[in-house]
Amino acid sequence: MAHDLFQAAQAAMAKAYAPYSKFPVGAALRTEDGRVFAGANVENASFPEGWCAETTALGNYIMGGGGKITEVAVIAERMAKCSPCGGCRQRLAEFCQPDTKLYLCDNAGVVETVTMADLLPYGFKGDILK
Ligand code: THU
Repeated sequence: MAHDLFQAAQAAMAKAYAPYSKFPVGAALRTEDGRVFAGANVENASFPEGWCAETTALGNYIMGGGGKITEVAVIAERMAKCSPCGGCRQRLAEFCQPDTKLYLCDNAGVVETVTMADLLPYGFKGDILK
């Protein structure tokens, strides 16, 4: 099952808008009921206004109804095991559980599986803000 999420991330990467960095990234996540949401990075001539593939995928996930995320895959064609940036770790942690699996990929498939807790230990949690 990890491989089909990898393929969804790879298909999303093909849609990346990355004319400045030329570093296309794709991300895909699956909810417990089997829905898959994917996204690519979207850059901007005003560089800080661009955003990451994981962020696009999360936007699609929210617009698709949200739910419990069970797995996430990330791929960058120019870097094996591209790992979500710090900001995306925080965004993913908002909707993932500590044991949610993240698949770090190369162009052939999943290379390494880590958990959300591996990627963001001691992350800020918003419970007190609710
Ligand atoms: N990028 C992502 O899409 N996800 C990450 O987790 C790391 C970085 C994008 C942002 C930018 O468009 C390009 O990769 C180079 O930093």
